Amino acid sequence: MFFQHPTKHISSHYSSIPTMLCCYNTKTIPHLQMRGMVWLFVVVTLAVIMVGVEGRNVRHLEGSLEYTALNCRGHSASITDFGGVGDGKTLNTRAFQEAVNTLSQYGSDGGAQLYVPAGQWLTGSFNLTSHFTLFLHKDATILASQDISKWPVIDPLPSYGHGRDAAGGRYISLIFGTNLTDVIITGDNGTIDGQGLLWWQKFHGKKLKYTRPYLFEIMYSDTIQISNVTFLNSPSWNVHPVYSSNILCQGITILAPLQSPNTDGINPDSCSNTRIEDTYIVSGDDCVAVKSGWDEYGISYGMPTQHLIIKRLTCISPYSAAIALGSEMSGGIQDVRAEDITAINTESAVRIKTGVGRGGFVKDIYVKGMSLHTMKWVFWITGNYGSHADTHWDPNAIPIIQNINYKDIVAENVTMAARLEGISGDTFTGICISNATIGMRVKAKKVPWTCSDVEGVTSGVVPKPCDLLPDQGPENIGMCKFPQEKLDIENVELKKCSYAMP
Ligand SMILES: *[C@@H]1O[C@H](CO)[C@@H](O)[C@H](O)[C@H]1NC(C)=O
Ligand SMILES: *[C@@H]1O[C@H](CO)[C@@H](O)[C@H](O)[C@H]1NC(C)=O
Ligand SMILES: *[C@@H]1O[C@H](CO)[C@@H](O)[C@H](O)[C@H]1NC(C)=O
Ligand SMILES: *[C@@H]1O[C@H](CO)[C@@H](O)[C@H](O)[C@H]1NC(C)=O
Ligand SMILES: *[C@@H]1O[C@H](CO)[C@@H](O)[C@H](O)[C@H]1NC(C)=O
Ligand SMILES: *[C@@H]1O[C@H](CO)[C@@H](O)[C@H](O)[C@H]1NC(C)=O
Repeated sequence: MFFQHPTKHISSHYSSIPTMLCCYNTKTIPHLQMRGMVWLFVVVTLAVIMVGVEGRNVRHLEGSLEYTALNCRGHSASITDFGGVGDGKTLNTRAFQEAVNTLSQYGSDGGAQLYVPAGQWLTGSFNLTSHFTLFLHKDATILASQDISKWPVIDPLPSYGHGRDAAGGRYISLIFGTNLTDVIITGDNGTIDGQGLLWWQKFHGKKLKYTRPYLFEIMYSDTIQISNVTFLNSPSWNVHPVYSSNILCQGITILAPLQSPNTDGINPDSCSNTRIEDTYIVSGDDCVAVKSGWDEYGISYGMPTQHLIIKRLTCISPYSAAIALGSEMSGGIQDVRAEDITAINTESAVRIKTGVGRGGFVKDIYVKGMSLHTMKWVFWITGNYGSHADTHWDPNAIPIIQNINYKDIVAENVTMAARLEGISGDTFTGICISNATIGMRVKAKKVPWTCSDVEGVTSGVVPKPCDLLPDQGPENIGMCKFPQEKLDIENVELKKCSYAMP
């Protein structure tokens, strides 16, 4: 469906700055002072500028911008209309916040898009508004400020009680929203760069007073789209929807060094109806981490993550899981579906992490179709994860783990097929594994399966599973369940939006 209203471009008292020329000139200035190859360099540089500008101008000359989204907007403005400068040096926090504040008034009048052109847009944290789209040009980078004093501190999440790095508050995320409806971050694969190195060093040096920020967090919100953008070098987690529903993540790339601390990719946390698809993640922690609060705080908040589908995820994370369920799962995790998962050089595939004191549940988990290369454990369930919020956790808060299904799996170069550890006196039940061919690496461990306090069945699994998961015979190779009915969020159709270029 095409957009009904003609898109209105909001002009303002700021003059439009020719951003692209400004940035390339700025970048070349130091070189102009060099001797020797200067003229050749200048000529080559100018040629690059001309090609670059011409290439981008084609889109501008065409005068329109088209993409698909949950909702289209009636108004559009550029960050340059609010005094933004994309030179990588000018701080744009005020420009972004003023843009959002101004555009928020169109919420009940068709909503608004904020366009971020090519350039390096240095900024501190800013907040989003409802009925709002942030669109990033393919050569636009939102660059997180390295000045920690520019990061306000907010309260811990109620379902966590504490920050993850330090007991008190937490630095607000680079892009933050709360109590919103209908929010979109999209683009032509533009970049949101957290410049995380500074934060990782402070974390390792135990120099942080508060918990590190995320790149994107949205709380208490409904109808959210994050698509076709790249998240780079987050200080900590990348994308964190929490206490929210109806979330679409599509075509996201997330990149961070393999050793960077806690750089989880996407963390749906106490969320309902979430669809994550066509996502490529290389990071230092779990590629997708499904959560719902921590120990006694998560138990009393009691908000599960449910109705989540993850499709066509590619993950590289040598020290973590492609998909982790937990370890903070105290509000419960239910009805999670994972389909067409590729993991390369990743520690484990779809892992459950829990322990005594967490309470809550992980149930009705369905995994179908995984292609795995170089992995420590294909199946890993941990019942003694530890890592408590504080000393007040309840030793009687025992998690319930049941109805966990895995089917149609091919793996190669695997060190151990499975490590399945329930809790003594709290057996993890209804584990089903069918049609799994696991190729072991040359130096594989002698015993490919270790199992304790688990109950379940298998069929068509190689190498031979542990005795706690008896083989049901080859005729049952299709037995593990995967739901037929789609989730509501899978039936949502995207609209084709069209804008006159600002
Ligand atoms: C952004 O939202 C947070 C949380 O509601 C608030 O503390 C902060 O002041 C807001 N920032 C701005 C610039 O309005
Ligand atoms: C946001 O919503 C939550 C949950 O409904 C509520 O407790 C909180 O007061 C709201 N915050 C604001 C700033 O409206
Ligand atoms: C988006 O950009 C990232 C980082 O430059 C790149 O790795 C990825 O392949 C790009 N994705 C698409 C769809 O162009
Ligand atoms: C993301 O980009 C892909 C490929 O360019 C396109 O097919 C898809 O519709 C885009 N999705 C969204 C939600 O923008
Ligand atoms: C077993 O899994 C493989 C790989 O996903 C798939 O191609 C094959 O059709 C499955 N076999 C059965 C009997 O379902
Ligand atoms: C197999 O896995 C080991 C690590 O477990 C790795 O060192 C080796 O390069 C892998 N081999 C192949 C062929 O991928």
